[in-house]
Amino acid sequence: MPGGSVRTSTEAIASLGTIVGAIAVVILVGVEIAIVYAIWRYRSSRVGGIPPQITGNTRLEVIWTVLPAITLVVVFVLMIGTMNEIAAAPSSYQGAMPLVVRGHQWWWELRYPQKDGTEVVAANEIHIPVSTEIDVSLQSADVIHSFWVPQLAGKMDLIPGRDNHLRLYASRTGTYFGACAEYCGIEHAWMRLRIVVEPADRFQTWLRGQAASRAAPSGLAQKGEQVFTTALCASCHTVRGSSASGAAGPDLTHLASRTTIGAGVLPNNDASLHDWVADPQRFKPGSFMPLVPLAPDDLNAVIAYLRSLQ
Ligand code: CUA
Repeated sequence: MPGGSVRTSTEAIASLGTIVGAIAVVILVGVEIAIVYAIWRYRSSRVGGIPPQITGNTRLEVIWTVLPAITLVVVFVLMIGTMNEIAAAPSSYQGAMPLVVRGHQWWWELRYPQKDGTEVVAANEIHIPVSTEIDVSLQSADVIHSFWVPQLAGKMDLIPGRDNHLRLYASRTGTYFGACAEYCGIEHAWMRLRIVVEPADRFQTWLRGQAASRAAPSGLAQKGEQVFTTALCASCHTVRGSSASGAAGPDLTHLASRTTIGAGVLPNNDASLHDWVADPQRFKPGSFMPLVPLAPDDLNAVIAYLRSLQ
């Protein structure tokens, strides 16, 4: 893995922006000085009317053709270099940690391929280790989405039937916010992403946690699992370790470990989870999570169950 010269994609873009901006400032200042000088030098009170009109000056014309051409070539070469730096051609990407991000209307499916061929499945909140290059494979389950985490990387489209690669790299720990950046239907605005950048050991702990099946529920949560697996819930959601194995919605095996529900639409706590399950369309109208009628006791049991899915 490359050493200290690794930058985030946004750092590379920002430094290109600074250089190109500096070139533009030099040109702007030069042009403005020339204009002010010409206005002063050829003012009518000084030259007495219209100054001498010159047509055709080969030397001048060569200069103002060649200088901009050289400038454009310099900017072009710098830009190609930056594009190469941030591009994630898989062949140049040996040793990067693979991560599959699959866009759905309107949430993010995450898969962490492991060396033993298995995958760790999560949703909406990407955890990655700090100072590690990630080879993100961008795919779509339905329409075109776009992966965008302004502070780290993007935008790159997730296109049905294609496998786009994006290089993700974070040099500092912290939480970064992202969103879908390609209009993808009515709930496009609630297709939020969270990227949690952690030290490698904490990331591994998180990954192990996500890889595990759900802890066997007890008490009210146990009743909740019965309701969950017999009501409509299980036909769309998977909870590993239970009989729920639906694939249309996010994997909920470790729902309680996430900070939001509905891809960012509500904070993940008892009250909002209760409101959300009772009537998802109230918060995310048009989303594919239907209102599943549950008796109040059953709803409470399901919430207790979902909250137990750490
Ligand atoms: Cu997905 Cu917009």
